[in-house]
Amino acid sequence: MGAAIGVAAAIGVAAVLIFLAAVFVDDWNVEYEEFSFGEGSVELRVAHLSDLHFPRKSVDCARLIGELERRKVDLVAFTGDLVCRKKRVAGSGAYEFMAALSKKFPVYFVQGNHEKYCADRTVCASLRALGVHVLDDETFYFVRGGKRLAVAGVSPGSGYAPSDGARDFTLLLAHHPEKFSQYAEGKPDLILAGHAHGGQFRIFGRGLFAPGQGIFPKYTSGLYRKGDTAMVVSRGLGRSRFPFRFNNRPHVPILTIRM
Ligand SMILES: [Fe+2]
Repeated sequence: MGAAIGVAAAIGVAAVLIFLAAVFVDDWNVEYEEFSFGEGSVELRVAHLSDLHFPRKSVDCARLIGELERRKVDLVAFTGDLVCRKKRVAGSGAYEFMAALSKKFPVYFVQGNHEKYCADRTVCASLRALGVHVLDDETFYFVRGGKRLAVAGVSPGSGYAPSDGARDFTLLLAHHPEKFSQYAEGKPDLILAGHAHGGQFRIFGRGLFAPGQGIFPKYTSGLYRKGDTAMVVSRGLGRSRFPFRFNNRPHVPILTIRM
């Protein structure tokens, strides 16, 4: 009887430790997930960052930038929620991180709901002053080896579609993955999105809840396809008002685009 109680207690302690590790240790252990798109001789490496939510980020920022350099990234696409809308942005570390990032890479940024509804209306202007390309329903072109990558950005609530223009590959940055069908109508080759935070709690590869998608959301992590358009969703790198993530490591998709 005493032995059985001891075994049960040991199993209980182990279960609690595994739970705590999944919530707290995993929280700082970034997963870099590689994807490849397109064909052709010109190659571009894109790092997809999302949802850092300064000051509630879950990553060591210096280490993150070092890892992007080690992985030979050419440009960074940031799909919104750099900040928390009810927190003071200045002093949160957000601008220092973006300044350091934009010194190393061209950075393309779209607003998330937390920038769109932030009490501080100067966030986008401040990012532009740091050299970040803020895409507020706009398309920029990144040219390499005679090939043109169109990088378009759609703001939350907008129906913007990438403008016509000569391009070899179209990358659409958006915050909201639940609008996949709407964004795919513009026929971009690849959409990058965030917002879902992996569904907060991940069980058997599925998220539990995401804003805009509800219970058992469809678009929370990784690759999805609709016709000729692909979408990659980042699980993000921070926490919003809901403070816990379970079995849900911070996530940086790395895209190799050939054109
Ligand atoms: Fe977010």
